[in-house]
Amino acid sequence: MNNNRDRKYKEIPGGFFISFEGIDFCGKSTQVKLLASKLDKDGYGVIVVREPGGTEISEKIRSILLDNSNRNLIPEAELLLYEASRAQLTRELIAPGIKAGKIILSDRYFDSSTAYQGYGRGLDIESIQKINLLASSGIKPNLTFLFDLDPEIAQYRYSSLPLFKDRLEEEKIEFHRRVRQGFLKIASAEPQRFKIIPADDDIINISKIIYSAVTDIIS
Ligand SMILES: Nc1ncnc2c1ncn2[C@@H]1O[C@H](COP(=O)(O)OP(=O)(O)OP(=O)(O)O)[C@@H](O)[C@H]1O
Ligand SMILES: [Mg+2]
Repeated sequence: MNNNRDRKYKEIPGGFFISFEGIDFCGKSTQVKLLASKLDKDGYGVIVVREPGGTEISEKIRSILLDNSNRNLIPEAELLLYEASRAQLTRELIAPGIKAGKIILSDRYFDSSTAYQGYGRGLDIESIQKINLLASSGIKPNLTFLFDLDPEIAQYRYSSLPLFKDRLEEEKIEFHRRVRQGFLKIASAEPQRFKIIPADDDIINISKIIYSAVTDIIS
């Protein structure tokens, strides 16, 4: 599926860029995978990326961001690391993918910086939006799915799994509440780009809603 250069694929002029947003554990990665496999079967060229990460350099930055021992990371440094990872990812994979007429699925993109570092940590929203613009080379998703979920439900899902907990996931519930409200505010400012998905639904139902929202636009 990814980076399969030999196979002929259905090209979309100008490409199609979709981002998946929402609080931790709301189901983004689950749905990215399901959508990628459906679109791949339909014959599209699909590129899946995740933030932070997605390129060799960006994955190195990711490991700094998720490292539990980096408790001293100050919010501004955190923001700039996310943006550095994004700049690399955008230039290396997203921009060329769009140019090649592919569908890019990004597991988080710049709205996460606004929601987490802005609404969550309290950094200045306008400054973040300016840095977002720089890091994304002005490339905006054509469509953004916001998975809206009560952080208590996310926490319940999370606590039922015996997982390694990273630095961000250990944040208090109030932080995740601010992030959730932040995402909803961001979405309300751009209703044409956002589709809000009630994420406390069945995985298969959600995947059908997402697939039909995408195919309605691209086919
Ligand atoms: N609609 C759903 N209903 C119930 N459980 C779900 C649903 N979607 C995903 N899950 C489960 O919740 C957990 C988190 O899902 P997933 O990894 O897709 O979330 P995420 O938003 O990518 O999380 P993160 O922000 O940590 O990357 C997984 O165990 C997944 O199987
Ligand atoms: Mg995920």
